[in-house]
Amino acid sequence: MELIHTVAWMKQVASEARRNDRVLGLVPTMGALHEGHLSLVRRAQTQCFPVVVSIFVNPKQFGPSEDFKKYPRTLDVDLAALERIGVDYVFAPLPDEMYPPGFRTAVSVEGLGDRLEGRSRPGHFTGVTTVVLKLFEITQPCFAFFGRKDAQQLRIIRQMTRDLDLGAEIVVCPIVREPDGLALSSRNAYLAENDRRAATALYRSLDAVRREVGGGERNPTRLLAALKCVIDAEPGVLLDYAEIVDAETFDRAVSLRNNCYVLIAARVGTTRLIDNALIESEGNPFTVNM
Ligand code: PAF
Repeated sequence: MELIHTVAWMKQVASEARRNDRVLGLVPTMGALHEGHLSLVRRAQTQCFPVVVSIFVNPKQFGPSEDFKKYPRTLDVDLAALERIGVDYVFAPLPDEMYPPGFRTAVSVEGLGDRLEGRSRPGHFTGVTTVVLKLFEITQPCFAFFGRKDAQQLRIIRQMTRDLDLGAEIVVCPIVREPDGLALSSRNAYLAENDRRAATALYRSLDAVRREVGGGERNPTRLLAALKCVIDAEPGVLLDYAEIVDAETFDRAVSLRNNCYVLIAARVGTTRLIDNALIESEGNPFTVNM
């Protein structure tokens, strides 16, 4: 495994891979790697060589009152985990390398990012798309791998990739969960013991929706009522938003005619967590993927 810190060297490695007709796969991360990230890497390894994992805590996607400073940074542990599973390259640039003094450009996708996460975290998605565009330019991936947990981010990156003809194919990987259902997230490390227990309410609330859909309920308002019942019963959890949206437009769904996401964001103690379930209604029978 080779550790790369500079844009110039990463570009050289990527160009060399292109010249040799290699299928480069990129797994963009902010480090503090968990089994969810490793599942993206393993998936990338089934179809790509070389596989590049980027580790960069991107300052531009954190708001001024968010957790940029305390975001877990565990580079040595991350590198050991990536080495163990046989990653080819790790690209871990310093902030000045990605955003040299005088950097002024921002890339944003109109519309899709104004609501939900975008409303709760102004500027977040512009930060994400700006860094992902740079990572794509630097590594020239044939495939880039993202987890479904950040469903809105994924939709926005897909749109940018299409709109700007970036050429990378976006591969969506399933959410990885703890045995009690909690979706893996680097931010779970912030949860105190009591919060950790309360945090399963996000999964339980989505599971309540899954059961309702299984029982034949198709009305988004009633499905959300079932979700909120679970959240309201958990005093340690403060709901930020819960919505059922069309999986393509991210507009509020009035029916389940198209595939939909059930999206939830909540504060557990001081930690903000998100989760989702995908209702696939375009097949028969309906399936709810957690
Ligand atoms: O999902 C993440 O970890 C980040 O938003 C990403 C895609 C690595 C961009 O910084």
